Amino acid sequence: MKGKVDIIIGAQWGDEGKGKVVDMMGSDIDVFVRYQGGANAGHTVIVEGKKIVFHLLPSGMLYPGKLCVLGNGVVLDPEQFLKELEDLHERGQDRARLVVSPSAHVVMPYHKILDRAQEAFRGKGHMIGTTGRGIGPCYVDKYARSGLRVEDLLDGDRLRESLSTILEEKNRLFTKLYGETPLPLDEVYLPALEWGKAIAPYVGDPVQILQEALDEGKRVLLEGAQATLLDIDHGTYPYVTSSSTSAAGGFTGTGLPVSSVDRVIAVVKAYTTRVGEGPMPTEDKGETGEALRVRGGEFGATTGRPRRCGWLDMVGLRYAMRLNGVNAIALTKLDVLTGMKEIQVCTAYDLNGTNTDRFNGAAHILEQCRPVYETLPGWNEDISNCTTFESLPRAARDYVEYIEKNAGVPIKLIGVGADRVQTINRGL
Ligand code: IMP
Repeated sequence: MKGKVDIIIGAQWGDEGKGKVVDMMGSDIDVFVRYQGGANAGHTVIVEGKKIVFHLLPSGMLYPGKLCVLGNGVVLDPEQFLKELEDLHERGQDRARLVVSPSAHVVMPYHKILDRAQEAFRGKGHMIGTTGRGIGPCYVDKYARSGLRVEDLLDGDRLRESLSTILEEKNRLFTKLYGETPLPLDEVYLPALEWGKAIAPYVGDPVQILQEALDEGKRVLLEGAQATLLDIDHGTYPYVTSSSTSAAGGFTGTGLPVSSVDRVIAVVKAYTTRVGEGPMPTEDKGETGEALRVRGGEFGATTGRPRRCGWLDMVGLRYAMRLNGVNAIALTKLDVLTGMKEIQVCTAYDLNGTNTDRFNGAAHILEQCRPVYETLPGWNEDISNCTTFESLPRAARDYVEYIEKNAGVPIKLIGVGADRVQTINRGL
């Protein structure tokens, strides 16, 4: 095995700017891979002022001629998949370099209906605040061994037979429990057959392709979606997504051997945001939160929902560093803090009168944690054109070094603006 695998993961609750970091590293990478999640992600890349959002395809699709893979751990939404390919085609991008795993599960129309119906069923106070993209119900079917995989869309007779069994159960749930209209077989089967035909040219064998790429000395980048604190096992359960968003998921989700990993790179936003429900100790519902939301353009790339905003949570960050075995941090959106008189950092939680620096993901515990802050000086100088660490104002450098020291991981990349070029590279 001569090649190298780097994994990029989000260290907070998502929307850290992973798309931009993947895109930044792009020229050195041979193969880009998505390994979990589905069209709930929203990876935004800005190239020459143009904003491009990928929900399902790897961000590497913008690099002509490179190989992109959707691994077995992904849940594939056929409509979104085909739409993103069509958009790329319209922009004149070559589409032939994409390979989809036959074992990836398919997000079907009934999953999206179930996602919304289950949220409504949970009711106010118990909702997860999902993206409504059918992610949870699709993973449920995967683990219940009643899901459809990409390969199942390719054989019409088998597809019809499987769907008729599946719909019998789903329709009973729809009518008897959720008050939804039942789905007629052909209404699902006929489009699914068409999706199969359209996806067929991209279906390959990622396990073999990736292993061969490593044998040939290629560089592979695993592009995580969502983030560590939304991990199904290690996140703020039950307010999480339904996949393994941390670095470990990169192996089950692709078939790459664990020993192939070279670096785990965590993308960290200079402050904290969260979309959907669930505890967020540093959430600021006042002026600071509003200022971060407006300056940082903190509105969901998938749903357009305003993101909850607050200061950097070092307790959660240290947890994410250890859990993922992070080697390097890419710090994004430092420019958003410009103009803040002072900057606060949550260094511990007050849990029932006792300070703790231990992150306990269980939502019912985290809900009781109050942030304990340290205050650092802010800066006023525009940093969006800074190209070296040394050219940043003193207070901005101090903030970066403070995070490095507390996280115990070097910050190798600093984002000072939305464009690909607005990045300070310190040896990533
Ligand atoms: P689901 O993934 O649609 O089931 O949503 C579960 C939780 O994960 C909700 O709180 C969503 O807001 C959150 N979530 C899912 N995808 C993303 C993302 O790409 N960024 C941020 N939050 C996300």
